[in-house]
Amino acid sequence: MAPEMIVVERHGAVGLIRLNRPKALNALCDAMMAELAEALRDFDRDPEVGAVVLTGSERAFAAGADIREMQDRRFPDTALADFIAPWEAVLTVRKPVIAAVAGFALGGGCELAMMCDTIVAAETAKFGQPEINLGIIPGAGGSQRLARAVGKAVAMDMILTGRNMDAAEALRAGLVSRVVPAERLLEEALAMGAKIAELSPAAVAMAKAAVNAAFETTLREGVRLERTMFLSLFGTAGQREGMAAFVEKRPARFPDA
Ligand code: HXC
Repeated sequence: MAPEMIVVERHGAVGLIRLNRPKALNALCDAMMAELAEALRDFDRDPEVGAVVLTGSERAFAAGADIREMQDRRFPDTALADFIAPWEAVLTVRKPVIAAVAGFALGGGCELAMMCDTIVAAETAKFGQPEINLGIIPGAGGSQRLARAVGKAVAMDMILTGRNMDAAEALRAGLVSRVVPAERLLEEALAMGAKIAELSPAAVAMAKAAVNAAFETTLREGVRLERTMFLSLFGTAGQREGMAAFVEKRPARFPDA
């Protein structure tokens, strides 16, 4: 069935997913998250796609989980049917996923962006974890990923007061990798995706896994994992082509696997 709450496009070797509930500022409801999970899985399986860009609208990447849908939820039903579990589809994608954020990325919207591998922000972007104003706390990893991204003091400030951070502060704090004018946001994110999609898929997948390991394991374990992956890349066609191209002073043409 065609998705109704997201728009899925291909731009060359880059998959693009737009969250598309503009009237509700892309509030993340169950149906939208199920569609997003399926689109991500499809792109992950497609050998012609090398990277994925996830974006929203000009006004909002996403203003959070859908408060109307959550309003009548009660414990223990929330625990028995964990409605956040499908969100984690983003974390299972082996290809790089770039969040392109304009406008509000609040609550679950900020958490969804942080589940991606990197965030490119428009100058209009506003990040925040305002759940405290609703009598709840972040529930899709926000307390953990924001603290790792910007440090304890800033994460506490944002999560305890619910205040937003603008794009300039997000760049200074290390939450986003680049800030660009709003009209260039998609172009910049797609160009980043296209650059990645030209490279050796095995090296890209391992680079992503290695950096992500830095947030999930000890330094010693992470370095061990990196070493194993580094050494195994010497068994790939990508390594042969990359190094041959350098020595022969020509551009590399990486194989698909
Ligand atoms: C449902 C939402 C929504 C949300 C906005 N809308 N955010 N609906 N859930 N999270 C709807 C509004 O109800 C309104 O619908 C329409 O979008 C436009 O929003 P306005 O408030 O009229 O716009 P504006 O005055 O510009 O204010 C923008 C805003 C505000 C500052 C982003 O909408 C806001 O504070 N939204 C809630 C942000 C939030 O608390 N997010 C965290 C949610 S909890 P109508 O029909 O009235 O036009 C969360 C937990 C995640 O995310 C945990 C993991 C699952």
